[in-house]
Formats: sequence, C-alpha cells, structure tokens
Amino acid sequence: MRELLNQVIEHNKIWTKEGKVATYIPELAKADQNALGICIFDLECNEFFAGDFKTKFTMQSVSKVIILACALMDKGKEAVFSKVGCEPSADPFNSIIRLETRDSHKPLNPFINAGAIVCTSLVSGDNGIEKFDRVLQMIKTMSDNPNIDINYPVYQSEKRTGNTNRAIAYYLKGANIIERDVEDVLDAYFKLCSIEVTVKDVAKIASVIANGGILPWSSEQFLPKWVCQIVQTIMLTCGLYNASGEFAVNVGTPSKSGVGGCILSVVPKKMGIAVVGPSLDENGNSIGGLKVLEELSKRIHLSIF
Ligand code: DON
Repeated sequence: MRELLNQVIEHNKIWTKEGKVATYIPELAKADQNALGICIFDLECNEFFAGDFKTKFTMQSVSKVIILACALMDKGKEAVFSKVGCEPSADPFNSIIRLETRDSHKPLNPFINAGAIVCTSLVSGDNGIEKFDRVLQMIKTMSDNPNIDINYPVYQSEKRTGNTNRAIAYYLKGANIIERDVEDVLDAYFKLCSIEVTVKDVAKIASVIANGGILPWSSEQFLPKWVCQIVQTIMLTCGLYNASGEFAVNVGTPSKSGVGGCILSVVPKKMGIAVVGPSLDENGNSIGGLKVLEELSKRIHLSIF
C-alpha cells in the first residue's frame, strides 16, 4: 500500500500546477500550491502515508460533515430536515439564489454554506461558544487527537471577510429558519471552518464513519449507525458541490471537500482516506486530490457501486 500511495502521489503532483489556492479568504492564499499528500487509516488501525502528509490545513467545508452529524444527534432527523433539504445543488457552495426561489426557503442541503450554517444553529449549546465546543470535542474524539484547535489568523480572516455568509445567515433568520442570534451562529461556523488538522486526523475521522460510528481503536460506538448512514448519503450526493455527480462516477466513495484543499473520503467497512492539495479547481475542490482519489479508486476498486 505504501508503494502504491507513493506512485499515485507522484503521478498526480503535476495537477497541482493547473489549479489555484483559495484567495477569497486572504489567509488561505498563504497555502503551498504544490503540496499534495495522503493518509489512509483502515479499520484494523493500520495507517499509510505518502507525499506532503505533514502539511497542516484548515478543515473548511470538511467540518460540515461533523456539524451535520452533531445536529442529527442533538435534534434528530425530522427536526434537522424540517430546516434543511437533502437535494444536490447545481450551484456553487456559497450560492444564495435558491434561498428565495424555493417555496420553503430551506437551503437545498447541509453541505452548501447556507445548509451548514442552519445545521450549526441546530447543534446543542446556549451560545456560539458552546456549539463550537460541542463540535470541536466530536472532532477531537473522532480523530483521537486532543490537541486539535483553530488556526486563529484563518478564523479572523474568515470572520472579517465572510460577508456572503453573513448575507445568507441574515436571510435565513428573516425566513425563520435560523432561530438563534445570527452573529453567534456565524462565529461558531467561522471557527469550525478554521479548525487546523493534518491528513492523519481527517483519515481517522473518515474511518469512524466507515466503521458505522465505532471508533476503530477502542471499539466504542461513538456515532449512532443511522447518523453515519445519513451523513454518507449526503456526502455521496452533495459532498463535492456541483461536481458531486462526476465524482460519484469517477471515484464512487462518500466524500467531502473543503477550500483548504482537503477531501475526506469514506470507504464503507474498509477505510478512511484524506488527501490534501490546496490548489483548487473552478468548483473549489482540490485538483490534485481529485486526481489522486480517481487513480486510487481505479487501482484498488474503491467505488461502492
Ligand atoms: O464558508 C466558507 O466560505 C468557507 N469557510 C468554507 C467553504 C468551503 O470550504 C467550500 N468548499 N469547497
């Protein structure tokens, strides 16, 4: 496996030159465009690394997976899907257009920004600090890493420039979909996007989902199985925004991308995979990460179909 991962990273490193690092959050522009790394964590707790696996990055939209899991555990399936839909979107992740044109005003799904902001408002906690702490604790447990924290410059940059997210959240408050204080919910959302990790942390998080919610290293049932089932379904249909269908055809594993350059990928009952490559394509997905997962899926048959 180690040799295979080295080959796959080498074959696809060239793609990092074709994309661009995210600049709409100024702090993200400092990421290394050439980096490309991977970690696989299987359900027997074997770990495999290749490339720039020590690169640190912020989770960005990858944290939406845990935010959704948390909202489902705290409020239940019906309450969550009364406020957010579960349909794929053909629009970019920060699109605002369908909030007004849909009769219910519900965001299309939990992985576009609007949906993730609603899910953040549904996480247990009296205020933004408590909601953030609740999700951070889940991330620490699922990665088995108590030292995870936020990258403060990214958080501040995100908060200072997150005006589209602010517009989305205020619209949702006006439509009575968000019932909490908007700035408080946004602050928790910006912090959750700014959580700093490595591919090892993310691969371990993915392995818990691949294992039906059981922590592979302790056999504790941490997430209910029904939560893992819903989260994986939404990852498969909506995890790569407007490229989710193409990804399902070419890779075929429930996955979630973020503009920090990470893609979390779940191979049910087998392993968790995380790739990082901050150079992004026009949809905001890691360009090298997509190619690495495509080659890997073909060579070791990862597609669930
Ligand atoms: O809300 C934002 O703009 C970011 N903090 C997260 C977006 C993101 O990662 C989109 N992913 N491809």
